Amino acid sequence: MYVLGIETSCDETGVAIYHANKGLIAHNLYSQVDMHSEYGGVVPELASRDHIRKLVPLIKQTLLDSQLNSSDINGIAYTAGPGLMGALLVGAATARSLAWAWQIPAIAVHHMEGHLLAPMLEEHPPAFPFIALLISGGHTQLVKVENIGHYELLGQSLDDAAGEAFDKTAKMLDLGYPGGPKLSTLAEQGTPLIKFPRPMTDRPGLDFSFSGLKTFALNTISASDKTIQDKANIAASFQEAVADTLSIKCKRALQQTGLKRLVVAGGVSANKQIRATLTEMVNKEHAQIYFPRLEFCTDNGAMIAYAGCQRLLAGNQQNLEIFARPRWPMNELAEA
Ligand code: KG4
Ligand code: ZN
Repeated sequence: MYVLGIETSCDETGVAIYHANKGLIAHNLYSQVDMHSEYGGVVPELASRDHIRKLVPLIKQTLLDSQLNSSDINGIAYTAGPGLMGALLVGAATARSLAWAWQIPAIAVHHMEGHLLAPMLEEHPPAFPFIALLISGGHTQLVKVENIGHYELLGQSLDDAAGEAFDKTAKMLDLGYPGGPKLSTLAEQGTPLIKFPRPMTDRPGLDFSFSGLKTFALNTISASDKTIQDKANIAASFQEAVADTLSIKCKRALQQTGLKRLVVAGGVSANKQIRATLTEMVNKEHAQIYFPRLEFCTDNGAMIAYAGCQRLLAGNQQNLEIFARPRWPMNELAEA
């Protein structure tokens, strides 16, 4: 069974083909970063228009790369939410129309379920059940995963998502967009000399709060001489605080549930220090950690094709409706 996956929820157009037994066949990504960087962040209307321009050529290219014809495709999976409504609609309408034309099922995939399952594309995928830490630009969530579609939300950010905190702090440091990777690169030249808080770690529970770190960063930047070295030290201190906070909460989640497997996914899971800090913690807990490869941490079509394939195998598919939900709680998903 070949499934075509389409991702258009934000600023990346991603297309991939996944086969139920053969695995990932082909994938392509077009990033809109250059276009949005001029404006310092994602401009939703520009994002939608660019998806319109790029999506169909990218689908054609992916079919060409995989040496398949449209008649070989057995299902089309598309990101139906959460995300930017206009951007989602481009993917949803294209997927739904192609599925109708090709007379095959369409599957509406939850973007965060895509992220959560991305490590399944690796050579050593995690077995169920596991704890998932989802850290992206819009979400920070700790989820107990019993099986596909069986998700228990253990904790989440009460304000900014981890990626959002990276992006906003990067902006304060004049690093531009996209902030996360730029802040992380600058942090490599710095020393974490400033003691940032580890928010909400001194009380029980698995929720997060990152907006205080942003304010702390702002005050620290204002009080500094704003030299490159000052900025690098602030970036390193901020990054260390995020990594430590995530690590403390993940350790708590592993201990509370007794589970021994941690999956870390979403754009921020590409961060080297976060990967290293979490790996160290998990090793001490005698548990296992699983990440997607770097290119599948951030948005991509492969994770959508994979999630869609699993859903289709379980008999899930949508009717002719073009389904798109900018807000979509993951606990509303059906079990596969
Ligand atoms: O998953 P993703 O591509 O899109 C969403 O679903 O939001 O995540 C994007 C987020 C952005 O906030 C970006 O700054 C952050 O992931 N990010 C990083 C790194 N790479 C991407 N944050 C910190 N360090 C990185 N290396
Ligand atoms: Zn994402």
